[in-house]
Amino acid sequence: MTTQKIAILGGDGIGPEVIREARLLLELLRDKGGVSLEFLDLDLGADRYLRDGTTFPQAIADQLRNECRAVLLGALGDPRVPGLEHARDILFGMRFGYDLFANVRPVRVLSDRLVPLKGRLAKDIDIVVFRENTEGVYVGFGGQFKKGTPDEIGINEDVNTRKGVERIIRAAFEWASKNGKKRVCMADKSNAMRFAHELWLRTFQEVAKEYPAIEARHVYVDALCLFMIQDPTQFDVVVTNNLFGDIVTDLGAALQGGLGMAASANVHGSDTQRVALFEPVHGSAPPLAGKDIANPFASFLTVGMMMTHLGHAKFEPLIEAAITEALDAHKCTRDVGGELGTKAASAFVRELLASRL
Ligand code: NAD
Ligand code: IPM
Ligand code: MN
Repeated sequence: MTTQKIAILGGDGIGPEVIREARLLLELLRDKGGVSLEFLDLDLGADRYLRDGTTFPQAIADQLRNECRAVLLGALGDPRVPGLEHARDILFGMRFGYDLFANVRPVRVLSDRLVPLKGRLAKDIDIVVFRENTEGVYVGFGGQFKKGTPDEIGINEDVNTRKGVERIIRAAFEWASKNGKKRVCMADKSNAMRFAHELWLRTFQEVAKEYPAIEARHVYVDALCLFMIQDPTQFDVVVTNNLFGDIVTDLGAALQGGLGMAASANVHGSDTQRVALFEPVHGSAPPLAGKDIANPFASFLTVGMMMTHLGHAKFEPLIEAAITEALDAHKCTRDVGGELGTKAASAFVRELLASRL
């Protein structure tokens, strides 16, 4: 088996704490699961930026592109860098630089206990959000004018290309058809943003014709937020733009038991050769940092997604099952109703898993 190289970047705040545990999980899969993995530990993030000004050097970007199959990232964001320059350089450097146009964020719940909706069970919430990841307001087109004066202007352009819109919509339909899902819902604001989102709506209707077996539904994103709470059983696959996808997946995380339970993959469609980026949906949660209280399960679920992407699909359900058992036994962190610290919750799941590999 060829060795797959994984770059590991803890980042800021709770990032290094949860990624340390996720690395132990990867080591377990390597040592007992028979997956041939090699690690490249990266010293990037706020500490490094404050030390020597480094954010995401071209040489490292090239090395990851040429040598690695995946990057596991914790989180970036530190109050000592209020402008978040390093975070944008690194995170967008990878998402845009490697053209990882699909940010895939499952909204699934691993224990009935975590469902916050009255009368609902975990099985009622099973959605995968395809967030466009290379366009929208995130491209950084715009500027400020007359800054600091009463007449100042701030502009961020919303960039939507036919190619970009079409490929994420197609990725959502492709994933649905390969995974036996019958419904794809596209969420936009074409009632207000009539140029950019008319493009989304028209493209969606055209691509949907190629998938007659899949029900294609359009909703405005504000209504999507309402429906996800009122009746999440309406949705299988949701596709939307970069900004709306960011917001809707934090809403989704609330349905999953919080940000400590939400995983994501940043991929170039179904291309598994190009380096891809895997990260929990949560941020660096500065108030939790250094206290051994952050939930490591979002990072574990992210490792599960990475394993499937790298061709080792049998591990993702095993990781999920072990986390479900930990949750049901309350062997988890406080945010999900347990009393364990980050390290102990991680060890419990890894020990369960080790007995099954
Ligand atoms: P956050 O995700 O860090 O925290 C939001 C809430 O969720 C907090 O109440 C926090 O305590 C809780 N939470 C998050 N992760 C948790 C975990 N693993 N276990 C338990 N509770 C958890 O969002 P924020 O506070 O808005 O952002 C903090 C910083 O992180 C900012 O600088 C932001 O830009 C950055 N951020 C980075 C990423 C990333 O690198 N991908 C993602 C989101 C936010
Ligand atoms: C996320 C984060 C990032 C985003 C921030 C840190 C720029 O919120 O990955 O969800 O908006 O994409
Ligand atoms: Mn976010």
